[in-house]
Amino acid sequence: MSPTTTIPLTDPALARRLEERLAVVEERLQRAVRQADRLADDASRHLVNAGGKRLRPLLALLTAELGTADRPEVVEAAVAVELTHLASLYHDDVMDSAPLRRGAPSAHEVWGNTVAILTGDLLFARASATVASLGPEAVRIQAETFERLCLGQLAETVGPTPGQDPTAHYLQVLADKTASLVGTSARYGAMFADCSPEVVELVARFGERVGVAFQIADDYLDLASDGAATGKTPGTDLREGVATMPVLLLREAVATGDERPGDRELLALLDGDLSDDAVLAQAVAGLRAHPVAEATQRRAVELANEAVADLEPLPAGPARDALVAFAQALVVRAG
Ligand code: IPE
Ligand code: IPE
Ligand code: MG
Ligand code: MG
Ligand code: MG
Repeated sequence: MSPTTTIPLTDPALARRLEERLAVVEERLQRAVRQADRLADDASRHLVNAGGKRLRPLLALLTAELGTADRPEVVEAAVAVELTHLASLYHDDVMDSAPLRRGAPSAHEVWGNTVAILTGDLLFARASATVASLGPEAVRIQAETFERLCLGQLAETVGPTPGQDPTAHYLQVLADKTASLVGTSARYGAMFADCSPEVVELVARFGERVGVAFQIADDYLDLASDGAATGKTPGTDLREGVATMPVLLLREAVATGDERPGDRELLALLDGDLSDDAVLAQAVAGLRAHPVAEATQRRAVELANEAVADLEPLPAGPARDALVAFAQALVVRAG
């Protein structure tokens, strides 16, 4: 995994350092998922070997560049956040009935739900063991992050409470299920590179905002991608009835009378049974061609720009430039 394939880095020395450190992270990840039991080992390696962008480790390594980046704790923290992410993917795919992940069949498709859930738990255990070596403060942060991730997934599952604004609910879900870990990745990198508390808080805030932007872009990709680049099945959110930004925007347009011809029919399609592949494809195509898709993507870009503005107090230089590039690349990605 090369950082330059994920984000355009203009500083060659920084690109080389990141590449070297990501290679160490990769090696540590491989060791961290190893199990003596054959099934546990196969299932634990499944997703780490299938690919993935390694965005969270990359972000930790990038924020570490604002301090003493070559401390071994930085790499351990980068491994811990990817393990946590990996574990959450095993569980997420069960909850979302997602058939594909990282271009490979999801773990539950291969081994069934029980093994997929237990493998996620095993990876959480390994993440905890990794974080333990970083001290009690890191453990506390990891626990709070994991708690938010679970609460976000739970809130998504149950939907807004009566009277709650659906968009506010949606944004809170994104902050908790996704931005919590992205923010922690940014925080850990700066924290273990001995940055000042001000810098640590600043990058954590940046990570949170970028995390929300990233998830909005992911929700857009559920419609806009053909699946080859994301390694996931398009329309998974729609089939599961997860009300993401484009659907919320469409619902709002219809509710406020600000609708276009065909909007009510599209909404009825979305609210109906999407178990048939052809019907799902029709719903995806309808939403993809609708201005709400573009509006969703625009919102992701706006939020990424707001995150970039958070970085302003940092000293100008390759580390800040790379964080800017990271934020921008996350919302215009193909996969
Ligand atoms: C997928 O994250 C889950 C979300 C929070 C959207 P990534 O898009 O970072 O997945 P990988 O790690 O590259 O597979
Ligand atoms: C899940 O969001 C994010 C996690 C916390 C795992 P999604 O359900 O949209 O993630 P993908 O699209 O399956 O990767
Ligand atoms: Mg999912
Ligand atoms: Mg999900
Ligand atoms: Mg998604």
